Amino acid sequence: MSSPSPISASARQRRLEDGTHFIELSALPTRIRIGETDLEALTYDGTLPGPVITLNEGEAVRLAFHNALHAPTNLHLHGLQIPPQADDPHRVVAPGQTVTHAFELLPESAGTYWYHPHAHGRVTRQQWSGLAGALIVRGAPDRLPELAAASEHVLVLQDLSVEQGLPAPHAPMEWMSGKEGQHLLVNGQIHPVLEAATGLVRLRLINASVARYYHLAVPGHPLHLIGQDGSFLEAPQPVNTLLLSPGERADLLLQVPAAARLELHDLPYARSAHATPRAAATPLATLEVRGPQRPAHLPARLRPLRRLADADARPDRVVVFGASMDPPRFLVNGQSYDRHRIDLEVRQGSTEVWELRNPTRMDHPFHLHVFPFQVLTRNGVPEPFLAWRDVINLRAGETVRIALDFSRFSGDVMLHCHIAEHEDRGMMANVRVRPPEVTL
Ligand code: C2O
Ligand code: CU
Ligand code: CU
Repeated sequence: MSSPSPISASARQRRLEDGTHFIELSALPTRIRIGETDLEALTYDGTLPGPVITLNEGEAVRLAFHNALHAPTNLHLHGLQIPPQADDPHRVVAPGQTVTHAFELLPESAGTYWYHPHAHGRVTRQQWSGLAGALIVRGAPDRLPELAAASEHVLVLQDLSVEQGLPAPHAPMEWMSGKEGQHLLVNGQIHPVLEAATGLVRLRLINASVARYYHLAVPGHPLHLIGQDGSFLEAPQPVNTLLLSPGERADLLLQVPAAARLELHDLPYARSAHATPRAAATPLATLEVRGPQRPAHLPARLRPLRRLADADARPDRVVVFGASMDPPRFLVNGQSYDRHRIDLEVRQGSTEVWELRNPTRMDHPFHLHVFPFQVLTRNGVPEPFLAWRDVINLRAGETVRIALDFSRFSGDVMLHCHIAEHEDRGMMANVRVRPPEVTL
């Protein structure tokens, strides 16, 4: 059950004769209005955020992406487990050109994903100017009676500052700290009112900001986490607050059996030792829940997940997110990104345990393309429940161990910090997954 949501229309799509789901999407400069301010933004299909792309697990997809910007760009389908060749950020799309991404979704891939530009060195400014959109893959758990009856909203979180009718330029320091905007946008609107029916309310949250973290809470209401990134959890997990670093997604249920007016808040959080956090909570959106008294039972089970490794498994390799001063640079294992250098090599078919270290004084969200992972421990503490993640925040000084499954594909993928400024300034590395060894 869906009620009017301020999010833009769904993507331009149709079924091809062979059943393939065909989608068209364009990036273009667009005049938009935020609050009282008009500005020249960059959008997908003329809306900020871009249209919601809704796909089904297991289906074949062709996505034709057209670049109507005045600069090179490309389209990254963040989190999808598709062959690296079908989503290669090294390929840049020139102005006026169209490229087609053709792929098949895996059978158990229902979750919350998103799309954004990934042309190295241009990501920050293009994403900050508005380029981002939600991509939802629906599957069997979405048809559970409890979830099928829930009021569902997709909430794309972005932030923006405007100067002279344009997205505000970066100050030099913001290339270090990551730029945060003065306007907090939920589906392109400042503090929208979302309508929902009594019962279960389902919120799919996407942090599509370049650098801003969201520390979410609905005061007076526990949140029931049912999914993270492109994965369902095995069963709902109650949480009071939820930290969402850039690139992360969360799928939440709220139990609202009677009409109510709820507030989604962004609580203070210090992501850097250099920055003073905001003192108070910021209201992000109002949830107006209407209708007669209705039960709001949580689903007991969502989807069984296979555990990849034990919490005490020894790491096969170490990935260090670092920084250096004079000149300021962001590094992975001591090196700044070079698109022609392969930084890590793994073998297709292997399961690996990686230790991710952040010795810096600020948080960095680690992201790996194509191959989702399970978090084993954070600073030695076992992760309380299973999920397939594709972004994990590394707090300042933290060490996180993850288990990765390289069985699906071979090819080149990248890992990087999902603070766009850090990624554009070198905090990225190439991972080569070699085809399995042929034994004669
Ligand atoms: Cu969401 Cu390499 O990115
Ligand atoms: Cu990605
Ligand atoms: Cu970073």
